[in-house]
Amino acid sequence: MYEHDVLVVGAGGAGLRAAIAAHEAGADTAIVSKLHPVRSHTGAAEGGINAALQEGDDWELHAYDTMKGSDYLADAPAVETLAQDAPEDTMRLEHWGMPFSREEDGRVSQRPFGGLSYPRTTYAGAETGHHLLHTMYEQVVKRGIQVYDEWYVMNLATTDEADPNDRQCEGIVAYDVQSGNVEGFKANQGVILATGGPGQAFDHTTNAVSCTGDGHAMAYRAGAPLEDMEFIQFHPTSLPSTGVLISEGVRGEGGILYNNEGERFMFEYGYANNSGELASRDVVARAELDEVAEGRGVEDEYVHLDMRHLGEDRILDRLENILHLAEDFEGVDGLVEPMPVKPGQHYAMGGIEVDENGQTCIDGLYAAGECACVSVHGGNRLGGNALPELIVFGKRAGAHAAGDDLGEPEIRTGYGDDVEDDDTELPVAPGASGLDSADSVAADGGVAAETGALEQAVERERARVERLMDKDSGVQHAEIRSKLQKAMTDYVNVFRNEEGITKALKLIRECREEYQDVYVDDPSKTFNTDLQQTIETRNLIDVAETIALGALVRNEFRGAHWRQENQVRDDENWLKHTLVSWDDGEPSIFYRPVILEGEEKTYEPKVRSY
Ligand code: FUM
Repeated sequence: MYEHDVLVVGAGGAGLRAAIAAHEAGADTAIVSKLHPVRSHTGAAEGGINAALQEGDDWELHAYDTMKGSDYLADAPAVETLAQDAPEDTMRLEHWGMPFSREEDGRVSQRPFGGLSYPRTTYAGAETGHHLLHTMYEQVVKRGIQVYDEWYVMNLATTDEADPNDRQCEGIVAYDVQSGNVEGFKANQGVILATGGPGQAFDHTTNAVSCTGDGHAMAYRAGAPLEDMEFIQFHPTSLPSTGVLISEGVRGEGGILYNNEGERFMFEYGYANNSGELASRDVVARAELDEVAEGRGVEDEYVHLDMRHLGEDRILDRLENILHLAEDFEGVDGLVEPMPVKPGQHYAMGGIEVDENGQTCIDGLYAAGECACVSVHGGNRLGGNALPELIVFGKRAGAHAAGDDLGEPEIRTGYGDDVEDDDTELPVAPGASGLDSADSVAADGGVAAETGALEQAVERERARVERLMDKDSGVQHAEIRSKLQKAMTDYVNVFRNEEGITKALKLIRECREEYQDVYVDDPSKTFNTDLQQTIETRNLIDVAETIALGALVRNEFRGAHWRQENQVRDDENWLKHTLVSWDDGEPSIFYRPVILEGEEKTYEPKVRSY
């Protein structure tokens, strides 16, 4: 058994920032991660960090752009905190040595990004996330914060009171990838989930193979609701054959989108008459797919992104990484030809419901970064707003878990008297089936009741590994995972309707049932990626189901969630967050009103045009 005050699960941007803050607040802090920190998916973030740094810009403008970008589904207290803290937290990175791109006079450069009213995206070439990770990892090493890397966290250890609001998180259970041992980690003060996104629920994604929604699934099964899961961002410029990201920075620097007739379609067909290519991502992604549907796509699949006119010097100075990605993954030389691009799953706006301090409704359980929903992105995240979220809310979660007083949060969490129940009759029974239910927080798995929550969780997870390893035939996880990814990509993509989402729910149900017969082919005790991916696949099933459930019940068009049956934003009925909570193996759905009241003003919903 290992023991620390604060345990951070995941070593991407949010995890590293949370660990630094918890350590600075005096807690004995450790990071537990399935990857070495600098291999975390934050390293793939290209574009930049939004922060109001320059004269003429201010946090109020940043907050306004973010509320508008969210299609008025973000909570104003969180958005204002983000906009207010981003400048100082970004400059702290600079002081820690982050190699930001600079102007001739030495100031940190900023460029335009989609949906911004001011060029406020700071960047380090087109590999900002990579430098961010290295800069913060140096700080972790400098401070001597313990990192357990290549430890895969399988589950949380929480107490099992009937009401999740009364539960307490006592620690985590992790699988040592090197030895194959399953061990308990006790957290005296708090566990912070910083496990990134669930992009692997889709088969065309900019996300790494490690993005399997582990934190989402663990928190969900422990009783913390998942919020606004239907809001999935499809980035307009991913490479068609691999999903590799081509940064919005290309369009920020002046890159242009063309259809197969050489038309600049964002203006030509009125998709965004003011901002064109720099409209927000949901708008551009839909426009590209409309072009393909109208027969104006290239090879009936994608559009062209052209940056040749920027000139070699500027491209090499600010976008060199893009040249390598286009060449290596698509065989295209961006200096002499346009790059093929199409929408790809990129980001989950929703996540584990938390307040401004990163706390879930379970005592001692926190979440930060993409796995959390605080909520600053609402229906659509603006490009360049993910990295400030990591540093601002990672820092807050770390400090709060370590005992710093950050004031009373305005955002509420968990089931309570301010929520409204959903009464949709679901076309498919979702939730646990058979062995599945052994993962529920309340299941004792045959473990003696007098032991503590952590000991019980360790025994339960050891039994799970044994069960998976003992079977010598059945279905392999890869088969189930591909079926799941295809279902989500076919039916819960940019354009959605009830019939398709119902099909997706049925296919997810089938995946869940097939998972009862899953087996691990590789008998090795060490570095058994087959075993790890089998467990990740279970997590993806749970998370995909919450995405599809949210998409089914939200019968309106808001941000990235388009519904064929109701193609208008319905503020009268839908200015509310969707929450899905796992109650003893059965999802239940409820709603909480969005908070549009900021410190000094209310963000009244307006028509969102770019
Ligand atoms: O396009 C990009 O560089 C991605 C940035 C982001 O998702 O914030």
